[in-house]
Amino acid sequence: MRIGVAKEIKPQEYRIALTPAGARELVQRGHEVLVEAGAGAGSAFTDDAYERAGAAIASVDDVWERAELLLKVKEPIAPEYPRLREGLTLFTYLHIAADEPLTRALVESGITAIAYETVETDRGALPLLAPMSEIAGRLAPQAGAHYLEKPKGGRGILLGGVAGVAPGKVVVIGGGIVGYNAAVIAIGMGAQVTILERSVDRMRYLEQILSGRVTLLMSSSLQVEESVQDADLVIGAVLIPGALAPKLVTRDMLGAMKDASVLVDVAIDQGGCAETSRPTTHDEPVYTVDGVVHYCVANMPGAVPITSTRALTNVTLPYVEEIAALGVVDAIRHDPELAPGVNVMGGRITYEAVAEAHGLDYTPLDDALAAGVV
Ligand SMILES: NC(=O)c1ccc[n+]([C@@H]2O[C@H](COP(=O)([O-])OP(=O)(O)OC[C@H]3O[C@@H](n4cnc5c(N)ncnc54)[C@H](O)[C@@H]3O)[C@@H](O)[C@H]2O)c1
Repeated sequence: MRIGVAKEIKPQEYRIALTPAGARELVQRGHEVLVEAGAGAGSAFTDDAYERAGAAIASVDDVWERAELLLKVKEPIAPEYPRLREGLTLFTYLHIAADEPLTRALVESGITAIAYETVETDRGALPLLAPMSEIAGRLAPQAGAHYLEKPKGGRGILLGGVAGVAPGKVVVIGGGIVGYNAAVIAIGMGAQVTILERSVDRMRYLEQILSGRVTLLMSSSLQVEESVQDADLVIGAVLIPGALAPKLVTRDMLGAMKDASVLVDVAIDQGGCAETSRPTTHDEPVYTVDGVVHYCVANMPGAVPITSTRALTNVTLPYVEEIAALGVVDAIRHDPELAPGVNVMGGRITYEAVAEAHGLDYTPLDDALAAGVV
């Protein structure tokens, strides 16, 4: 199969959808890999490195026009819409339930689009989202520690303390992938860490793997109120799948928090778990409400593209190899994890929530496959 790797043109996006190591794996399996010139630069991969791996460096037009399977990181943006076409399979983060113009562009083009974020295991896990949660979780205490420094507007406390001086207190709300990773780094920094969770099973699991190193508390409105009052750094890491994050930290609670404490609301991409959270960017990551510094960057992994690119491609490559080996139709038939990833097939919307969100026609994937739309 001829596999294209396009350069990301969305502002502040430095990741690339395939590493040179991934390119070599594909080339060794007999596929042709075309990488857009300069596409790896933001992740510290040179064109030379791709060529040494057996890929060819190509122009943007060549990559989009000649590829059978096109790999990207972010969804196509308006200047890329004219490049979408029938016969092409696109594999990328799409998030089209929130993007009607892109949904229409995909449908009208006749393309097949598989979204990283809806690839799903039989246990309901989202394997292509997990590494970004791991990274955001690990970044959260780092960002929080930075903004706790006095010159940055914070309380002026060192999370690790020193001998004879107490460490800082970190409260993590939500003990899933983000929360666990945030706790591990905060513990490593020497902070005193509390995780508030709602799932008893998850708390039992966290107890086993973090035994003695964190305090685990059942999350409730009262417990959140008491815990955040005592915290130097609060990390918001809750998720209710498919829903907006619950507003667990209310405006009233801020008034009782320590002056110049920091809230890192990782759940901001689902609306945030504090009433006062609103999305920020890496250019202007923080703002202050009632004396509490809010860090609410919606794409935290974008700050560390060298790590993020590798972590993303580690998990996407097996699916890429599968699509390349079997062809898109057989890969979808063969792999029940890949099938829910298909949002659009041959220009038909095959993901019900997307069709519903925009009031457009829905074609069940099996019907699209049976109709041979690709
Ligand atoms: N800002 C970013 O750059 C970025 C990056 C990655 C992920 N995220 C977001 O971070 C959030 C967490 O993601 P995740 O992968 O850890 O999800 P997850 O499903 O692994 O974990 C969420 C946890 O929250 C818990 N929870 C739900 N309601 C709760 C409550 N009321 N109190 C306490 N805990 C509660 C759940 O039991 C679960 O363990 C999501 O909104 C995700 O989209 C943001």
